[in-house]
Amino acid sequence: MIQFTEEHLAVRDAARDFAQNELLPGVIERDTHMTYPTDQVKMMGDLGFLGMMVSEKYGGGGMDTLSYVIAMEELSKVDNSCSVIMSVNNSLVCWGLETFGTEAQKEKYLPRIASGETIGAFCLSEPEAGSDATSQRTTAIDKGDHYLLNGTKNWITNGGSSKIHLVIAQTDKDKGHRGINAFIVEAGWDGVKVGAKEDKLGIRSSDTHTLMYTDVKVPKENRIGEDGFGFKFAMKVLSGGRIGIAAQALGIAAGGYELAVKYAHEREAFGKPIIKHQAISFKLAEMATDIDAARHLVHRAATLKDNHLDYDMAACQAKLFASSAAMKHTVEAVQVHGGYGFVKEYHVERLMRDAKITQIYEGTSEIQKLVIARNIMKGQLYSYA
Ligand code: CAA
Repeated sequence: MIQFTEEHLAVRDAARDFAQNELLPGVIERDTHMTYPTDQVKMMGDLGFLGMMVSEKYGGGGMDTLSYVIAMEELSKVDNSCSVIMSVNNSLVCWGLETFGTEAQKEKYLPRIASGETIGAFCLSEPEAGSDATSQRTTAIDKGDHYLLNGTKNWITNGGSSKIHLVIAQTDKDKGHRGINAFIVEAGWDGVKVGAKEDKLGIRSSDTHTLMYTDVKVPKENRIGEDGFGFKFAMKVLSGGRIGIAAQALGIAAGGYELAVKYAHEREAFGKPIIKHQAISFKLAEMATDIDAARHLVHRAATLKDNHLDYDMAACQAKLFASSAAMKHTVEAVQVHGGYGFVKEYHVERLMRDAKITQIYEGTSEIQKLVIARNIMKGQLYSYA
């Protein structure tokens, strides 16, 4: 049993209030018109949701991963465009910079990102390097006092609004993954171009863009870590990121379930509330059980991370299970609502569309299985003793 402190409960209540009072009104409009949630992101920064785990020294909340996933779940019950913005900023950009950046990099960039003055983008995927992340085509050629960056990055969350990009690029092809580096790139530099916003199935108001880099001069001091550390940087950052996306998937499943329970109490058919029909109540029973299981996996992965224990396998298990539960049970939540579930006003169709991306980004379900299977082959039977 994972013990919540008073602080965890306060975070949950604050996130729940924010989601219900500030995100819920307007979420359908923003989703329909792909409107970037400018005001909501500003509020998330003011309330401390954008740099939750960053130490106070750099303007963050100094909280643990458990607090972060608790907040992610609450926001994701309502607005997954906002929660993906939050997830990428916290897990990938802030955590990556704070853990592996130099003191100068942290002082220069972290306070701006943790406060939400700008948000960060994590740029790994390419037109021909998605799951196979070692096959980077973007190059960063060493020119002495700087690197010259050229290439294209795809599906970049926060790509349109972010002023600070963490870009993964190949510096020495012959060295394979050991020839890859990660760089801090400012969106305002010459040669950085933002492509059109993607028109997506779900998380429609988050701004997903292609980013183009043409002869961008990146100062040497903006490389993160030792020469050749970029691939491991990406993998370590993604491992924590998967806990955040697992929490998002958990929130989607729980959001759909809570709406289905409410509707099943209110809606009557054949002379009684539909919750009293076994066909409906059995669906709800399965949802409740899977959501509890997903929550345990997410909280355990977060707790392993907070205790500085190996969490790679646990993170993948949490994401694999929670994203599958999100997909399965949002489909069922629509079914419980019948025809009403198929219209936007009842919110479950949006959650069903949002669920799909949790099985794709930060590693597809197949990638999660691959990482889990590799750990099993190495002799790790379970993700905990
Ligand atoms: N921590 C540290 N090092 C790691 C690691 C980890 N978690 N995982 C791998 N490595 C190291 C390995 O030890 C190896 O190093 P050595 O050779 O020195 O031992 C090196 O990295 C290469 O590893 P692999 O041989 O395992 O690499 P691979 O090519 O076989 O496969 C993979 C790795 C797991 C398939 C990886 O490519 C992967 O995770 N792919 C998915 C990419 C992904 O998740 N993309 C998401 C994009 S970001 C996003 O979606 C954000 C968003 O917008 C929301």
